[in-house]
Amino acid sequence: MSWLMKTDPEVHRAISEEVQREQEKLILIASENYVSRSILEAVGSVMTNKYAEGYPGRRYYAGCEAVDIVETLAIDRAKALYGAEHANVQPHSGSQANMSVYLAALKPGDTILGMDLSHGGHLTHGNAVSFSGHYYKAVFYGVSRETGLIDYRQVEDLARQHRPRILIAGASAYPRTIDFAFFRRVADEVGALLLVDMAHFAGLVATGFHPSPFPFADFVTTSTHKTLRGPRGGMAFCRQEWSKALDKGVFPMMQGGPLMHVIAGKAVMLREAADPAFKTYIARVLENASTLAETLSAHGYNILTGGTDNHLLLIDLRNKGLTGKDAESFLSQAGIYCNKNAVPFDDKPPTVTSGIRLGTPAATSRGLDASEMRKVAELIHRVLESRGKESAIQEVKGSVSELLKRHPIYTELG
Ligand SMILES: Cc1ncc(COP(=O)(O)O)c(C=O)c1O
Repeated sequence: MSWLMKTDPEVHRAISEEVQREQEKLILIASENYVSRSILEAVGSVMTNKYAEGYPGRRYYAGCEAVDIVETLAIDRAKALYGAEHANVQPHSGSQANMSVYLAALKPGDTILGMDLSHGGHLTHGNAVSFSGHYYKAVFYGVSRETGLIDYRQVEDLARQHRPRILIAGASAYPRTIDFAFFRRVADEVGALLLVDMAHFAGLVATGFHPSPFPFADFVTTSTHKTLRGPRGGMAFCRQEWSKALDKGVFPMMQGGPLMHVIAGKAVMLREAADPAFKTYIARVLENASTLAETLSAHGYNILTGGTDNHLLLIDLRNKGLTGKDAESFLSQAGIYCNKNAVPFDDKPPTVTSGIRLGTPAATSRGLDASEMRKVAELIHRVLESRGKESAIQEVKGSVSELLKRHPIYTELG
């Protein structure tokens, strides 16, 4: 970093501030994580310089020998990790992975059936403000008001009524295991293709802690920076019969040159995810999430669905008289980052919300264990019950700092 310090002190200072924030704050944002130093090195490499439109061995530029090696490694490792027939590691993001599937399999105006954003789905599953709601006819299922679980009956009814071209399973804020066999059955009944967006639980699938969508889905997409602990990006998978269409959907339909430095990072990520240590890590992520849920529940917090099967939990704060916006703000002042999140059937706008979403991937990466998660839950409770009182915030800030000193991260980065 000394080079940047000399040439561009403003950017250097901002990056240093971010290093410090990531070192000194407790990150409970369910979609964030800490990549390894190896991944940082790969992503910071000269592969950022290389144009490589096309695919390994079939490029539109000369000089692709080295980038072909990393992309081939990434593809082979991705297929091996998930037992997938075909993998495309080029999508720049999870959203673009979804777009590439739509470009491969849909015509504008076709119908897609996905989970409502306000019930935990993702923007790219058909929301009106996203390209997916703009170019396709989107229909949404949600969760049951009583249980908070996916309303499988509604999925079935809507599929029969609207006969979508693509049925989408997968979510951004759903704490429970998803029944892919059910979705496959419905897709078959109505002649739909099944897309599983495993962006949030890709690391759990890789390690066997969530059932794999691969035996059931025609397409699987993911982002790479959440539980999979890789660089920011996406991947898309499909059955062999769709491989040409998917590759075309990514390039040339959606993107130009792939981010070869990020693909190098994805290759490293995929090697790390196949290591037995990653399975131990994900097991701890889940243990930490359930400990957080249980401890907060004991303090009277309404944990939606009554707990979690995965790395995240959703809390409806209405019984505590707090909004998601206030809770997010109070906690971040105390050094704990989470995000406000709409809860199903929320009566507040998305900029305010009635809930927060908490996740344990990042905190577990830096080494926090279940007993420390219990302590974290106590700290969260202390801040929220005080409704952001300055003395409570200062006290918790000190405790967070003490806790994180026991689990330093990126020490070589200063
Ligand atoms: C289920 C799901 N799909 C797709 C995405 C999009 O990923 P990205 O932010 O990389 O576009 C997300 C991100 O939160 C997600 O939760």
